[in-house]
Amino acid sequence: MKLTVVGAGAVGASCAEYIAIKDFAAEVVILDIKEGFAEGKAMDLMQTASLNGFDTKIVGSTNDYSKTAGSDVAIITSGIPRKPGMTREELIGINAGIVKSVTENLVKHSPDVIIIVVSNPMDTMTYLAHKTSGLPKNRIIGMGGALDSARFKYRIAEALDCPSSDVDGMVIGGHSDVGMVPLIDKAVRNSVAVSEFLSEDRMKQIVEDTKVGGATLTGLLGTSAWYAPGAAVSELVKAIGLDSKKMFPCSAMLDGEYGLNDICIGVPCVLGANGIEKIVEIDLSDAEKAKMIESAAGVSKTNGLLHL
Ligand code: 2OP
Repeated sequence: MKLTVVGAGAVGASCAEYIAIKDFAAEVVILDIKEGFAEGKAMDLMQTASLNGFDTKIVGSTNDYSKTAGSDVAIITSGIPRKPGMTREELIGINAGIVKSVTENLVKHSPDVIIIVVSNPMDTMTYLAHKTSGLPKNRIIGMGGALDSARFKYRIAEALDCPSSDVDGMVIGGHSDVGMVPLIDKAVRNSVAVSEFLSEDRMKQIVEDTKVGGATLTGLLGTSAWYAPGAAVSELVKAIGLDSKKMFPCSAMLDGEYGLNDICIGVPCVLGANGIEKIVEIDLSDAEKAKMIESAAGVSKTNGLLHL
């Protein structure tokens, strides 16, 4: 499996590192526009190979897309991250142009590529990648829900004082501070509803803390997070690479699913060798449906800022 990671910043380098450590890919090309930066990150990561025990070959390239030719999956992390106090949506002015150009270059050298979009505002950037690439809709995946769900599980485990591995839960909807829909009523601790263990107020707090999980870290770090985003991407790529048919919430182009059309937003997706193998329509409560509709309105509003 050949992979490309566009953007050698913290998120891109974490993507490459976690993919390499999981050791399911033959090659990862890291590409960046900054002279020598991707080459340096690749070399530093390759010097961990004997320590972390992986055989994946990581190479760097300064803006030479010919090196990405024949990639099975390409991850777009390039663009500016947000600063404290910023929303993801405020990044659209700069990031839209970057994502459009990167998508065009990737498809030119890898016409059958599956693209995973990380750059923010992610749902809108995913939509832009669809409109730019012309790829079948199953080959464009937005990574947001997998990250938000990991943060959701972290918050639930924190409240229950248990390992995150004991918890399962999913976040759908837009990858935005206000638009996320953590499905708290469906969350479980080892098959037992978390409502058996937590008060209504505590569950509401978990939902709110999850929605601002990214902003909380940006406030602490001074920039966007990178470890959990990188790890989340690596799990999506692994599911594609191993054709595992695992289900993750991903931003997918909807054609009527959940009553939504012509929008990319977080919904449960089965991932495999073809990218999105299936969009899964789960039963939502009236309250969850209303939150999805509200979330979609927010994503559509941001999409309206694109000059397509
Ligand atoms: C986050 O939530 C970068 O949007 C990403 O951390």
